Amino acid sequence: MDKLLIRGGKPLEGEIRISGSKNAALPILAASLLVDGTMKVGNLPHLKDVTTMMELLGILGVRETLDESYQVQIDGSTINSLVAPYELVRTMRASILVLGPLLSRFGEATVSLPGGCAIGPRPVDIHIDGMRALGADVVLDNGYIRAKVHGRLKGTEINLNLITVTGTENIMMAAVLAEGQTVINNAAQEPEVVDLAHFLNEMGAEISGAGTSQIIINGVKQLSGGSYNIISDRIEAGTYLVAGAITAGKVKIKDVQPQIMTSVLEQLSHTGANIEIGEDWVLLDMHGNRPKSVDVVTAPYPAFPTDMQAQFTALNSIAEGTSRIKETLFENRFMHVYELQRMGADITVEGNIAICKGVESLKGAPVMATDLRASASLVLAGLAAKGETLVDRIYHIDRGYSRIEEKLSQLGADIERVS
Ligand code: EPU
Repeated sequence: MDKLLIRGGKPLEGEIRISGSKNAALPILAASLLVDGTMKVGNLPHLKDVTTMMELLGILGVRETLDESYQVQIDGSTINSLVAPYELVRTMRASILVLGPLLSRFGEATVSLPGGCAIGPRPVDIHIDGMRALGADVVLDNGYIRAKVHGRLKGTEINLNLITVTGTENIMMAAVLAEGQTVINNAAQEPEVVDLAHFLNEMGAEISGAGTSQIIINGVKQLSGGSYNIISDRIEAGTYLVAGAITAGKVKIKDVQPQIMTSVLEQLSHTGANIEIGEDWVLLDMHGNRPKSVDVVTAPYPAFPTDMQAQFTALNSIAEGTSRIKETLFENRFMHVYELQRMGADITVEGNIAICKGVESLKGAPVMATDLRASASLVLAGLAAKGETLVDRIYHIDRGYSRIEEKLSQLGADIERVS
């Protein structure tokens, strides 16, 4: 099993390009199931989760051709199965995103229930209630969601009782080919939801309000092909900026949309980082100083993202002062804390709050990744720590960070993949 070996303690310096967004790519690939024709998707990130979603589309009968620049051509006219099997869904929860598109276009879908995961129970009840509200018959049977509708789904007003990103995306995709108008209230406002809406509109959908709490979808009969480029990954971008901050370095990230990173950039500036923002780049410079600790409360966009919580916990663990990190989205998203403690971090967890007393330095240690963002935080801690850190189970990191060891080496890190 691959591991990452890091010899830490070097300030990172240099510039890197940020890849396309994982959490925009996954729904956009799933949305290809709605399109009766050929479409091209560019700026796809080179990630395990993207390969898994493409494998799932392949099982459903979609024809895909990937070129060397990771642009994929997708033909959705050859679909011959409406079943997303357990074997694939259990490896990636985002597989649930095929439910809305299959049901909407073909009147039927069978998707395995994803089950729990390392960061909490993560139910999909809101996705299912949304399909029912649009007129589908949905039963849970043998670990599968079986959804059916006679004729087309019917547009309606849906009030989400809590904000869910993939739930909003699934309902929005289902509503695209429904009869009449659907209004989603309390919708997720994440940039990845907006990117999906832009993609769907490019293919002929009529969606307005994405990026606000109310999304309005006027159903159309058919989507046809087109081409689209995915937005940059704001979480990958934020992670590399934290790599600069935690090592008292100077890092420039390119090909990003700084306007969708406001809360993270604001917190980074509170650590004492000097931040310069261009049209599609951000430069972080610590001027060699140790970061100051910052309090963090995760919440849906535009607030501070839960997907950056673990990275900021690593940053706070070596920062000057004591911080309070509150996780409001997932029940079990502090697994990294126990590994950071093994590197000398002084963190205590009380319910959904971690209290972090910054220590002068961490010590390298063998550590184990438990989920994607937790593994990123261990790599960051390893970059700052004295001595060698060996991060095990890095298949988690390959799900969401493209060529992380190459990108970090480009910034001067001493990091290698070993088996
Ligand atoms: N929830 C329910 N019922 C539902 C749906 C969600 O109770 O039917 C709860 C969840 O259990 C959670 C909260 O609602 O407590 C919010 O979860 P959400 O549905 O928004 O999460 P998600 O859509 O499953 C996406 C990202 C996650 C990211 C969250 C929050 C994708 C593919 N995944 O998950 O990304 O953490 O939104 O921003 O977009 C990651 O990239 O590492 C990652 C986990």
